[in-house]
Amino acid sequence: MSRFIKTDGRHRTIEGWPLVFTVLTTLCILVGGTVQFLPLVLVESNIPTIETVTPYTPLEVEGRDIYIAQGCVSCHSQQIRPFRDEIERYGEYSKPGEAIYDRPFLWGSKRTGPDLARVGGKYPDLWHVRHMENPRSTTPNSLMPPYPWLQEKTVDFDDIPGKLSALKKLGTPYTDAEIDGAAQTARSQAEQIARNVAANGGPSGLEDKEITALVAYLQRLGTDLSKAGN
Ligand code: HEC
Repeated sequence: MSRFIKTDGRHRTIEGWPLVFTVLTTLCILVGGTVQFLPLVLVESNIPTIETVTPYTPLEVEGRDIYIAQGCVSCHSQQIRPFRDEIERYGEYSKPGEAIYDRPFLWGSKRTGPDLARVGGKYPDLWHVRHMENPRSTTPNSLMPPYPWLQEKTVDFDDIPGKLSALKKLGTPYTDAEIDGAAQTARSQAEQIARNVAANGGPSGLEDKEITALVAYLQRLGTDLSKAGN
């Protein structure tokens, strides 16, 4: 080795003092880390905000928690990369400003199933109800597991205001009135979705079921960019 690496022996000497070497290495990593990290925290304009990106509705927050609890992120990413093949398949690539209310973020790293960043509006509500109950009923040979219990388990609407106020503490700009009325707001959005599903020939009585919250969340994904104003 010494034929290739010129060394005057100083490095070797420091390496021979494990404690000093550990301290020096830690210092180097800390300085390097801080230099990378500080601007991200201090400069607000690092996260370009998009005017039409708004916080999730109370029912969508509930649906997002179900998505997390069921581990959907282990098979589905939510980030479209700026490559032609991805844009043609999934739509406009994901922008950092679209994820500012995602706590925790659900970008994911595995695509056993397709990316879901822009799945909102791609299918009718009823399609999602049928697909979640039995993926092979809408998509022959699907590898996705069925989630039939989502049509049986009920949403605890009174839990939702607490979730919103936790998100508010982390920076999501919910007003106090929105938090106080969250259970009611969620109920009326759920009723609307349940009515739509029943009217199209799907099962009725889903207004307080977990599937309805999940559908609300899925139908929201990626739709902010196309709202009026952009
Ligand atoms: C074991 C991996 C796996 C898990 C876990 C999984 N999925 Fe899937 N998902 C797939 C596969 C594979 C497909 C493609 C075939 C199909 O449409 O069923 C898919 C398709 C989808 C689609 C249709 C996407 C499109 O653009 O056509 C949606 C929506 C979806 N999954 C939602 C979910 C949700 C919500 C969960 C959690 C409750 C979930 N998936 C859990 C594998 C998975």
